[in-house]
Amino acid sequence: MRVLGVETSCDETGVAVYCTDRGLLAHAVHSQIALHARYGGVVPELASRDHVRKLAPMIGQVLEEAGLKRRELGGVAYTRGPGLVGALLVGAAVARSFAWGLDVPAVGVHHMEAHLLAPMLEADPPAYPFVALLVSGGHTMLVQVAGLGRYRLLGTSVDDAAGEAFDKTAKLLGLPYPGGPELERLARTGNPARFRFPRPMTDRPGLDFSFSGLKTATRNTVLDQGADARADIARAFQDAVVDTLAIKCRRALEQTGAEALVVSGGVGANGALRERLAQVAERAGARVHYPRMELCTDNGAMVAYAGACRLLGGERAPLSFDVVARWPLESLRPPGEDVSPHGTGRAV
Ligand code: KG4
Ligand code: ZN
Repeated sequence: MRVLGVETSCDETGVAVYCTDRGLLAHAVHSQIALHARYGGVVPELASRDHVRKLAPMIGQVLEEAGLKRRELGGVAYTRGPGLVGALLVGAAVARSFAWGLDVPAVGVHHMEAHLLAPMLEADPPAYPFVALLVSGGHTMLVQVAGLGRYRLLGTSVDDAAGEAFDKTAKLLGLPYPGGPELERLARTGNPARFRFPRPMTDRPGLDFSFSGLKTATRNTVLDQGADARADIARAFQDAVVDTLAIKCRRALEQTGAEALVVSGGVGANGALRERLAQVAERAGARVHYPRMELCTDNGAMVAYAGACRLLGGERAPLSFDVVARWPLESLRPPGEDVSPHGTGRAV
């Protein structure tokens, strides 16, 4: 089955075609960074309008790259949530209508489930069960994954998400939006011995995260030290985040006895985090799996893949689609077991 995937939950338009026999056939991502940069963050209305402009031409382009006619698609998957409602609506409306026009099933995908499954697109995919660290701009979660739709939340951030902490700290350091990759670049030239920031919530049991104290410590140091300490501050901040995430991942592997650790979401593109988690996993006798860099951040390929899994399981979105700004990952069920109106497997 060939499935078109559409991602529009935030500031990237992502389109892809995944084939259940041949893997990923084509994918394209259009980033809105330039559009939002002057505002220092995502402007939801501008995001929606840009998805309107880009989505249809991108679908044409990706089908052409995949060498496919529309009729050769067997299903369409779109991100149903969580995310910005206006942005989600664009993708859902276009994808749902497209599927209706082709008379193929559609399915609404959970954005974080898609992130979590992204390493399945790689040559050496993880086997269930595994532990997943999902670190993006909106979420920080440790999840025990028993199978598709079988998720147990082990820990989550009680305040800012990891990516949000990166973005806010980068802003404090005068770096452009989105700050994560910029901060990583600056941190490379920083002296790791000059400052040491707290590793929040690592001294007590449990797998929850908190990044607001670290953000305050960083802010105070910026105010104290001035501009010439920027690289050293960036380094100390990144080291503290990486350490915190690594400590919790180690605990999660110990607690669950899992043999694989999946790391996904935008912050999973961070090189220092990748290096550190490789060590953590090795020591725990586990393997760490990442999607390739371009599939760590938002993309249509992960949506096409997650959608294909759910479509194969018989899940179908109704014709009357909706989108959801908030949608707890733990509320998902395997396809076929879903009791919600989305994914009942009912013919529409
Ligand atoms: O998953 P994603 O593309 O979008 C959301 O679903 O949120 O994640 C975006 C987040 C942003 O906060 C961005 O600054 C962060 O991921 N990010 C990074 C890096 N690349 C992206 N953070 C740290 N280091 C990076 N290299
Ligand atoms: Zn994301």
